[in-house]
Amino acid sequence: PTKIILDCDPGHDDAVALLLAWGNPDIELVGVTTVVGNQTIDKVTRNALSVARVAGIVGVPFARGAERPLVRPIETAGAIHGESGLDGPVLPEPTIALDARPAAQFIVDTVMASEPGEITLVPTGGLTNIALAARLEPRIIPRVKEVVLMGGGVHVGNWSATSEFNIVIDPEAAAIVFGAGWPVTMIGLDVTHQALATDEVVAAIAAVGTAPARFVGELMEFFAHAYRDTQGFDHPPVHDPVAVAYLIDRSLVRTVAAPIEIERRGEFTLGMTVVDLRAAAPDDCVTRVGLDLDADRFWALVVDALTRIGDP
Ligand code: BDR
Ligand code: CA
Repeated sequence: PTKIILDCDPGHDDAVALLLAWGNPDIELVGVTTVVGNQTIDKVTRNALSVARVAGIVGVPFARGAERPLVRPIETAGAIHGESGLDGPVLPEPTIALDARPAAQFIVDTVMASEPGEITLVPTGGLTNIALAARLEPRIIPRVKEVVLMGGGVHVGNWSATSEFNIVIDPEAAAIVFGAGWPVTMIGLDVTHQALATDEVVAAIAAVGTAPARFVGELMEFFAHAYRDTQGFDHPPVHDPVAVAYLIDRSLVRTVAAPIEIERRGEFTLGMTVVDLRAAAPDDCVTRVGLDLDADRFWALVVDALTRIGDP
């Protein structure tokens, strides 16, 4: 299996990413780290631990990460994810204790204790923790197998006309991560706006018939209303699990190698992922961008993971 650290800000779609990573046999979850984003660090960390309880996740360390972006003030997404960051279902009291280390230290320790090329980083929130880890111990950069992140967009934004939430909330961190030299695959909005929780998808999840599946159903109900009311979507895009799904089956997402720069100074374009698709990328290009998703097979993986998780 592919060993991953999921760095997340749950978050409705982050919760689904966590369930997919836990329930799929081709992924080994070696740790979960949290980062400020959809809500404050206290809230998203509690949410991660609540989801762990719902899914019966045991034996996986959870570490709390950055409480604010590197440079900019905190910007949360209460309009999309609610006051708790995970509005909709009742969130059970966490039963597992946090790892004592800050997320960046946990990432450094885990990568340095593993073989080179063993650990894949999967950020589904702002990139603050990953940038801090790379600065804390640069020797992790050649040791990490790859970074597969949800964020950005080639032709579309959501937090502004040009920019996606995970990148725009900490563009300095994003610039560090995209420019570090490790392989980075960007699963952006071009891909994840195809991961819609349609009525058929919601019905297939409900048919699993377990408590974790009901929990996801309640998450999707809130998420659908939020996306309908604030973003004009008929069905909500469930972004974050696509990054995990890509690691399970690369044929789910069409990707191309391309140079990617993060806009940090634009008057109207702060946080834009500037992807150069004009020509074939140079041979030494280590960044890739996702462009298309096989949505049916993606959702089949989510339903399969929920089926395997069962009723813990
Ligand atoms: C991203 O922003 C967050 O609100 C979601 O969890 C996802 O990671 C989508 O732009
Ligand atoms: Ca997220």
